Amino acid sequence: MNTWRVRFLYFLTSIAAVQNVTSLEEELTDSIFGNFLDPVKDLFEHKDEPSRNVVRFSLRKPSHPDDDLCYIISGEAETLSACNFSSTAKTFLVIHGWTLSGMFESWVSKLVTALYEREQTANVIVVDWLNSAQNHYVVAAQNTKAVGQEIAHFIDWIEEASNMPLDNMHLIGYSLGAHVAGFAGSHANNKVGRITGLDPAGPDFEGEHAHRRLSPDDAHFVDVLHTFTRGSLGLSIGIQQPVGHVDIYPNGGSYQPGCNLRGALEKSLTLAYLL
Ligand SMILES: *[C@@H]1O[C@H](CO)[C@@H](O)[C@H](O)[C@H]1NC(C)=O
Repeated sequence: MNTWRVRFLYFLTSIAAVQNVTSLEEELTDSIFGNFLDPVKDLFEHKDEPSRNVVRFSLRKPSHPDDDLCYIISGEAETLSACNFSSTAKTFLVIHGWTLSGMFESWVSKLVTALYEREQTANVIVVDWLNSAQNHYVVAAQNTKAVGQEIAHFIDWIEEASNMPLDNMHLIGYSLGAHVAGFAGSHANNKVGRITGLDPAGPDFEGEHAHRRLSPDDAHFVDVLHTFTRGSLGLSIGIQQPVGHVDIYPNGGSYQPGCNLRGALEKSLTLAYLL
């Protein structure tokens, strides 16, 4: 918006104020002014509505670990039966982390398969918060709380709608998703059985108060794997402090030789670049 146009709009509205304008002129002014304000309104609307996070819950099938075939929708009990949700089986919520691509990483379907191999009758639900996770890291990290709260609503609803005991609920979150799981657990009305944090994210969470990150308060049992806590420039991708009842640091937690080193390096480089 250049100053000339602002002056013109000002001129136009002052004329409208002084003169007895016809409704057509009024409409014209309104629409010009409206158009002028629209992008600004958008800006404020985005800031005022942090709850714009879209969180989806896809019940994956053992035969199609990669495909989102059936979504369970909070408040719509018929989606539970439509997706063949079993209220007596274990329920896993798999929660991804920060993303640049806006797509699920390949570990998601591998984990789905692994969980079904162990628990054939389980409900393995992949939580999709890609929309809020595909952001500048700092923004995505800030979104973890609101996303966690939405998941908490989902947990409260599914507990009531299906009568499932929350002891059967196991949240598994990777990186930022580990903190999302923490917020989900702490905001749910009743405690979930277990949260597993897979290399919970460090930046913006290290040293924070327990209620602002994954902590032992968030579930009856919180177990954590720290796999990439090797710092660079004082920054560690994975959180270094213990945040669960049990914290495991394979190879000292620093890094895992030969284990997807490229992915880890790419992540650390992008993170270093974005911060
Ligand atoms: C649910 O189970 C029925 C009966 O086994 C099957 O026909 C149907 O395709 C299943 N639905 C989904 C979404 O998997």
